Amino acid sequence: MTIYLSLTDPDRPAGAIPAKKEVAENIARYEKYTLNTYARPPIVFKHGKGCKIYDQDGKQYIDFTAGIAVNALGHADDQVAAIIADQAAKLIHLSNLYYNEWAGHLAQSLVRATLAGAGTCSHGLYRDVSPEGLGPKVFFSNSGTEANEGALKFARKYGKLLAASGKLGSGVSHGLKTDPNLKYNIVSFTRGFHGRSMGALSVTTNPKYQDPFTPLIPGIVHARYNMPSEVAAMVDERTCAVIVEPIQGEGGVHAASVEFLRTLRRRCDQVGAVLIYDEIQCGLGRTGKFWAHHHYPADCAPDIITLAKPLANGLPIGGIIVSHTIADLIKIGDHGTTFGGNPLACRVGHNVVSRISDNQFLASVQEKGEYLKHQIKSRLGSFIGADRIITETRGTGLIQGLQFDRDPSSIVSAALDRGLLLVSAGGNAIRLIPPLVVSKDEIDQGVSILVDVLKSKPWEA
Ligand SMILES: Cc1ncc(COP(=O)(O)O)c(C=O)c1O
Repeated sequence: MTIYLSLTDPDRPAGAIPAKKEVAENIARYEKYTLNTYARPPIVFKHGKGCKIYDQDGKQYIDFTAGIAVNALGHADDQVAAIIADQAAKLIHLSNLYYNEWAGHLAQSLVRATLAGAGTCSHGLYRDVSPEGLGPKVFFSNSGTEANEGALKFARKYGKLLAASGKLGSGVSHGLKTDPNLKYNIVSFTRGFHGRSMGALSVTTNPKYQDPFTPLIPGIVHARYNMPSEVAAMVDERTCAVIVEPIQGEGGVHAASVEFLRTLRRRCDQVGAVLIYDEIQCGLGRTGKFWAHHHYPADCAPDIITLAKPLANGLPIGGIIVSHTIADLIKIGDHGTTFGGNPLACRVGHNVVSRISDNQFLASVQEKGEYLKHQIKSRLGSFIGADRIITETRGTGLIQGLQFDRDPSSIVSAALDRGLLLVSAGGNAIRLIPPLVVSKDEIDQGVSILVDVLKSKPWEA
């Protein structure tokens, strides 16, 4: 294979590629007819295989973005392609007015993998699980944003019903005893990312995304991430939900401390609030365990998990896994979706979950995550330090972050020129989130390109 350790076209500045005629026409058409909200390099990608992806000129790139943590099994996976072809020839969609063959299979495999990875945990959604069939249940959506919207709605209903039932205990204040409709606050955290619809945007604490669209939904309380000492003041009897990423992806690859999640769990139990873990980016095997929260002690478990991205390896799908208690409160007509849970996405999802939840697969992700971490530390070592360009490295499994002391966009751009796809994150970080099937060889190649990029100091250009 070709490794581009230096610029393939050294005459042009990084990021300003004069596109060939066919590519230029393609891009011009796109720019003319689509409402563009992204700044893209002038490249059109045509096909991929595993961890490699190829542009319209046949140039090869190593993909350390996996479509932003989506293509867990890599591009053009043979099994996924065969399933899509087979199912597309049978039944793609029929709406939620009717049962289909695959949504139940996928929900079952998700619940089983969730319970299996948590051992003997009996907190949150791991409570009330019995052999008679009690246990968590899944609602399917089309995206991560839509999964979070549903989770917030379920939590609002839970809050209303709990307050109305008078089961909030004797210390209840804030007029909740006389008006149960006051239990609607949702607590979210700095640097968190939960999506761009009105509800999900309201809990995405970032002025860049929020400011053009205010006013947002009422009842949102913004708290600081990883500050257990502030939790009691922010989460009170008016709180119906707390939404948090166990590892923040878009925010810059920051992991929650055990003490932070434990304090949230305890406080949610005290005040009768639902603890929602948004595992849309960090979940489904990316950390080397099925869920990121499976790395934490039992008393850090959530009541709801939201998921999406890799669930069908690139076909749009999302999901909300809710505790048995919450599932019991959600009634027919409370929520819905046209596309969510269709047999095509669910059948692919079932294949993905069966493969990702396999213990050997998860062990391989852990091993490759350690390898990537080691390669970063040893080969990028001279660039890492409190007074160097990379001030910190952090991450678990195959979600690794490099913290830069400046805007890293020139580095992302120079890496692209050399055939490595990287994605930046909030706070001047770069995320390394390759497909989970990446090989050690491909990790070596990607890190070699990164070393070359840093040596060339693109930020000085
Ligand atoms: C943690 C997290 N939550 C929610 C979302 C939104 O998901 P989607 O883009 O599928 O709507 C994202 C997307 O990046 C995410 O990383």
